[in-house]
Amino acid sequence: MWLSLFSLVACGEVKGGDDFIATNVEHAAAQYRLQTDALEGSERMLIPRTVDAEGKMVYARRKWDWTIGFFPGSLWYLYNLTDDPYWKDKAESYTEYLIKEQYNTTHHDIGFVIGCSFLNGLRMGGKEEYKPVIVQAAKSLSTRFRPEAGIIQSWNADKGRPLQMGWKCPVIIDNMMNLELLFEATRLSGDSTYYNIALSHIDKTLNNHFREDGSTYHVVDYDPQTGKVLNRCTAQGYSDESAWARGQAWAIYGYTMAYRYTRIPEYLKQADKVYEFIFTHLNLPTDLVPYWDFDALNIPNEPRDASAAAVIASALYELSYYSDNREYKNTADKIMESLSSPAYRAGIGENHYFLLKHSVGSCPDHVEVDVPLNYADYYYLEALKRKRDMEANGSLQHILASY
Ligand code: GLY
Repeated sequence: MWLSLFSLVACGEVKGGDDFIATNVEHAAAQYRLQTDALEGSERMLIPRTVDAEGKMVYARRKWDWTIGFFPGSLWYLYNLTDDPYWKDKAESYTEYLIKEQYNTTHHDIGFVIGCSFLNGLRMGGKEEYKPVIVQAAKSLSTRFRPEAGIIQSWNADKGRPLQMGWKCPVIIDNMMNLELLFEATRLSGDSTYYNIALSHIDKTLNNHFREDGSTYHVVDYDPQTGKVLNRCTAQGYSDESAWARGQAWAIYGYTMAYRYTRIPEYLKQADKVYEFIFTHLNLPTDLVPYWDFDALNIPNEPRDASAAAVIASALYELSYYSDNREYKNTADKIMESLSSPAYRAGIGENHYFLLKHSVGSCPDHVEVDVPLNYADYYYLEALKRKRDMEANGSLQHILASY
């Protein structure tokens, strides 16, 4: 321990926390230092996303890739966890590279893109100039609000799978994650339009996305003129009636975050229902890292999804902050122990310098199956930060900050 703490002090100190946190932050910083060093020589900005079936690095493409904010977000977390200005410098460059995305209205994931980069930057030492970018991005996201249906349209219906399926106005549970941007835009601008859009979307999702057992559908297709639910189905799950693991993760995280900004008890109740679903499920492995879908056909011979586990762990630290139920934090700690074990955490210099192994993008599309993913790393680092903050002073500093 002394050795590892010594080297951390030498290249940026870990703030607060214990040996588990110090060790894992040190590991993450060493691995991501190799990543940023490897990117240094490239002529243009490259954002690591995943690794393809041939074992080659895949970079995210700026214009349409929903994952482009996660790498800058991870750099902000590394800065926060180490206090090393090296990470701030890198985080700023990668964040500011995304500046044009504030005007992107072509998909709902602008919330992930700008939230992970500019909003995290604002929370963790970035520039005042990030504020108008966040508000503009919220304005762009709001163009996708369909007032008659009361929801934000996730995917465009005129191409790809939505066109093939004949969907009119598809909303995916993932969309909950993009609403944080709207809440923050209202805080920053004083314009309640964004807040109201978020609230409407959350309530519609609460009514229409969930099953009796607390699990969520992946896709709900609406009639955009009347708001009638036309179909409940899946895109990335095993089947329409199955429980896609990352969808459950987005749900528990989304409703916990929604409670943060609204204090509406039903949202906390929904997060708890999803918790009960996940953690009483017979197909949840003992290390608490779920298979990619709780109903996948060949369990236990199915890939795990470390990204879902990381999202859930991060959500549970926040959920534990709003509740007396100690189980939430204990469960999050167990997940973090699993993810930090050699079964999931890559050795230094391995795994194309990503932190975590064994995530799944989309099994039905045969895309990104059992690979590293930049968002698995992002939520792992976020969870590490939340764990440190909870244990150091019982708070969740950055997400509750006002600026
Ligand atoms: N939001 C896309 C996914 O979770 O794969």
